[in-house]
Amino acid sequence: MPSVTEQIEAAERSAILRLENKIVTDSPLYRSGATDPRELPPWFAELSKDPGTQILVGDDPRLPTLPEKPTLIDYFTYRFGPSQHLLQSARLAKQNGCSEKTVLACLLHDISVFGLLVPEHGYWGAQLIAPYVDEEISWAVRYHQALRFFPDPAVGYEYPESYIKWFGEDYEVDAYIQRDYEYAKHHKWYMTAREITINDLYAFDPEVVISIDDFVDLIGRHFRQPAEGLGYDDSPSAHMWRTIMRPTKFL
Ligand SMILES: [Fe+2]
Ligand SMILES: [Fe+2]
Repeated sequence: MPSVTEQIEAAERSAILRLENKIVTDSPLYRSGATDPRELPPWFAELSKDPGTQILVGDDPRLPTLPEKPTLIDYFTYRFGPSQHLLQSARLAKQNGCSEKTVLACLLHDISVFGLLVPEHGYWGAQLIAPYVDEEISWAVRYHQALRFFPDPAVGYEYPESYIKWFGEDYEVDAYIQRDYEYAKHHKWYMTAREITINDLYAFDPEVVISIDDFVDLIGRHFRQPAEGLGYDDSPSAHMWRTIMRPTKFL
């Protein structure tokens, strides 16, 4: 009869995911909360126990493979599944007569939520796209993070009802969000970020299904697609695109 420690160890070892005979690793962020990030993951111990072990370092076979030179549209197709919210926001901005730059900002505003990270999504999203778009677009994506908490009735933006429901009546934003709002509201691009929030809230309509194909021309005009493929260029955010491409790549 194995001891309790041995049983726990056996259970942990069997919980290690192997694909194509290779251990699949995960990042501390995936585990934090469900487990204490200070604890070593079971796969880490396995590496030292079994010297013959191989690790997944390329494409994750569970995910669709991106083309050799992936484009923004490929990321929408193969990674950003529930992106109707983005497409509908962009469509609404277009209907409301916004500039093409603003429509693209709406199309990309929550790109981090759908492809990278949910917390601090405006900041991550802005960083992801900054090398490829006009500075005004990434600025607007960054500051929509703060502006969505602050009404501006003069231009038709009220505090979202859904936020009262989700966060509670007495929710107060963090001090850095307040600070970023104060900065953004006097900025020359304030209205570009504000337009994101105006076209954001009521954008989701389950009856309307929009394809990214509707925005191919707009993306072509305003998104500087790198010739090497998004992720394989040497921009400051190329590694972030590669992480979306291969989220379980070891190191
Ligand atoms: Fe957002
Ligand atoms: Fe949004």
